[in-house]
Amino acid sequence: MKFLFQVMPARAVFGVGEIGRLGDEIDRLEAGRVMIACTKGATGRLGPLRQALGERLVGVFDGAEPHCPQPVAEAALERFSALGADAVVPFGGGSTLGLGKMITVRTGRPMVAVPTTYSGSEMTPIYGMKIGQEKRTWRDAAALPKTVIYDPALMVDLPAGLTATTGMNCLAHAVEALYPKEPNPIAADLAERCIEALSIGLPGSVERPDDLKAREQALYGGFLGGLLVTMVGIALHHRICHVLGGHFGVPHGESNSVILPYVVAYNASAAPNAMDAIKRALSAEDAAAGIFDLAGRIGAPRTLLELGMPADGLAHAAEETVATLAYNPRTVSVQEITELLQAAHEGRPPSEGMI
Ligand SMILES: [Fe+2]
Repeated sequence: MKFLFQVMPARAVFGVGEIGRLGDEIDRLEAGRVMIACTKGATGRLGPLRQALGERLVGVFDGAEPHCPQPVAEAALERFSALGADAVVPFGGGSTLGLGKMITVRTGRPMVAVPTTYSGSEMTPIYGMKIGQEKRTWRDAAALPKTVIYDPALMVDLPAGLTATTGMNCLAHAVEALYPKEPNPIAADLAERCIEALSIGLPGSVERPDDLKAREQALYGGFLGGLLVTMVGIALHHRICHVLGGHFGVPHGESNSVILPYVVAYNASAAPNAMDAIKRALSAEDAAAGIFDLAGRIGAPRTLLELGMPADGLAHAAEETVATLAYNPRTVSVQEITELLQAAHEGRPPSEGMI
């Protein structure tokens, strides 16, 4: 066995009711004046955070928005400074965590993140801001939280749609961790467990939103998926999703849900060990079909058509993908990726080796 192992420094507290440790985690950082960051929609769910923080909570900034528009970032920084806050606690999904990263980088003050989706954003040092119409992103270790609190009890309010799409994004992180550029057996082990946990947790969470056992499995998958993003790079799947997001406005979770089974079908011949791991984790006979079926079970989108992607944009998306792809286990051509996107546009039942 041969490998290179490197992980980001991160402290994670996981478990039902563990949000109760938020105050202790703040004390560990020798901070005493906390500002919570969230979206307007999340303000009604802050009860457990308020209780855990007590007098440490000095204010809430509830203006987080997707892609962190510059005026939002500036308003949040002004509020942080006006409150005399010395720590930030973002409570929410990717948009809110992105704002938390911006605040911690700009102020140099620590962040304790409380994620409420499965996207894994809390583990990555990548954050962005929308300046005018342009989305800029940066990578900075200073953007990482000092602690992440994963509490499955806080996930019961996550709507089925977001449970499904952020869960599929997480699943994609695990799948792409199975065929990295550099062999990584540790990532492969974690990825298989991540896929298994999601395959149990996501359907249970969609069918019974307040089932804490299901939420626990899904969130454990979310935690592992987040770790995997930091351990290995991305490949064809995420390249396509970023092209669809950047040029056609397709949201990341939705594009992940649709594209993943087709990329797995495409990469099957070049990554047989990955296919075996996916099949074991899903108890499926075909890796691509197994992922497609899981997406169907949890109500995630399965066609580009339903996401409003125009058929006449597929060839352009394929060209852009091929031109900007850094790594994939199987070589790509514009013709093949156009075929892949056509199959995904129609929602043709995928199977290993179909393209
Ligand atoms: Fe992703």
